Amino acid sequence: MPIKSTNISAVEHRVEKDARWRANGHRGGVLWFTGLSGSGKTTLALELERTLFAKGWQAYVLDGDNVRHGLSSDLGFSPADRTENIRRIGEVAGLFADSGFLVLTAFISPYRADRKLARGAASDTFHEVYLEADVEACEKRDPKGLYVKARRGEIPDFTGISAPYEAPEKPELAIDTAALDVAQSLAILLDYAERNFAFDG
Ligand SMILES: Nc1ncnc2c1ncn2[C@@H]1O[C@H](COP(=O)(O)OP(=O)(O)OP(=O)(O)O)[C@@H](O)[C@H]1O
Ligand SMILES: [Mg+2]
Repeated sequence: MPIKSTNISAVEHRVEKDARWRANGHRGGVLWFTGLSGSGKTTLALELERTLFAKGWQAYVLDGDNVRHGLSSDLGFSPADRTENIRRIGEVAGLFADSGFLVLTAFISPYRADRKLARGAASDTFHEVYLEADVEACEKRDPKGLYVKARRGEIPDFTGISAPYEAPEKPELAIDTAALDVAQSLAILLDYAERNFAFDG
């Protein structure tokens, strides 16, 4: 996207990153959940947020549907609008991570190039978490009744049915949420968060 703002200069914070991490007991970062609708992004992100918060961590979920009511309420589901939606969320997640939070994002984010851009916004603190339930499993669950509507042709550009999903090639973590239940998936995530973000420096 072309940069239109001119005459800007970044300010430097007077709080060191390490100081934030020490105060929180963990590093800031982004766990970027990606997967088809119904793969479990919201379910697992919210459970992980609750569990980490109970341990005293600063964790916060950015969820697709909520963001589309506010930050991205002017966007639809065309490829260009999806790209802009993910760009905004990537930037917001990067800022949260910089503030010391562990951000858990729950967006289908179907395009590889868009996820790469989001990774760039959070640099080395970005971890892609692929929930690899296939379309058959997700359609069987259909927690919001969206697949039924999409099959009837009532939702244009529905990922997995009438719009593509580009699976991650090298995600930092992949969880087969079609084979595992919520508790098993959550245990994997919790272990992953502790191994990669706990900070006792
Ligand atoms: N291992 C698992 N992890 C997560 N959810 C699971 C798992 N096994 C079964 N489920 C069920 O699958 C459904 C996942 O729905 P959820 O709304 O979390 O999906 P989503 O990826 O956020 O979809 P959307 O992109 O439409 O928001 C829930 O009903 C949940 O109970
Ligand atoms: Mg969701």
